[in-house]
Amino acid sequence: IGDKLIYFDTINSTNIFLKEHWKELPSETVVWASKQTGGYGRMKREWISPRGGLWFSVLFKPKNRPMNPWHYVRLYTMAIKNVLSKKFKLETVIKWPNDLLVDNKKICGILGEGIYTGKTVAAIIVGIGLNVNNKIPDELKDIATSYIEEKNKKINLEKLLKQINSTAYYKYYIKYFKNNTISVFTKQWINNLNIRNGDFIKIISQNGEKHGKIVSIHGDYLEVLLENGLIENIYAGEVSLRKE
Ligand code: BTN
Repeated sequence: IGDKLIYFDTINSTNIFLKEHWKELPSETVVWASKQTGGYGRMKREWISPRGGLWFSVLFKPKNRPMNPWHYVRLYTMAIKNVLSKKFKLETVIKWPNDLLVDNKKICGILGEGIYTGKTVAAIIVGIGLNVNNKIPDELKDIATSYIEEKNKKINLEKLLKQINSTAYYKYYIKYFKNNTISVFTKQWINNLNIRNGDFIKIISQNGEKHGKIVSIHGDYLEVLLENGLIENIYAGEVSLRKE
């Protein structure tokens, strides 16, 4: 991953770049920018991307590999958690489905987008936003953090990018990204989540707020026993632990 690396000082969004150019680029191309002017996150929310953070996207064109974009999002969740812990002594928690938190504040967001031709996935674009050497504006300090805010130190962004991509590749991608071993990887990811079976949670989604108890955790959804006694599979939304 990253044998082909395209760098921009400033771009609107590395995800948009790959959406426009995925056809002519090889699988595993990495696009990296020092600054984004139109960065976005899940639910089309604005993603503030000043100089100092690590903003990049990776293109996958799966042939004999799993097609589900979520696997590729988890690949980066796990790789970044691993690199921050092993190389930079910063422990993070994976908030379902794919944020990395330090003390309940977001340090990293990951966005997976699938490009479909008919019903098959032709390409998967994973966009990673990691707050590294960028200071967090005061008004966001309750909900967001960065490496420099936590450790008062800087990281060389190019080195960090290489470490993340090689960890993703050697530790997870070549080992588990085959149709018969991907479930082993999904289990590792589940074991690293901030939620467990039996936890009481609050789910906020477009349909409002719900409360329930986790029956089981799967790659793509949570099975939840709701307060009204019904079991529902939850595929998206803000999930937080309910403190009783
Ligand atoms: C989220 O938590 O909502 C996901 C945020 C993803 C942000 C990254 S930064 C690099 C790439 N380019 C974008 O415009 N978005 C992703």
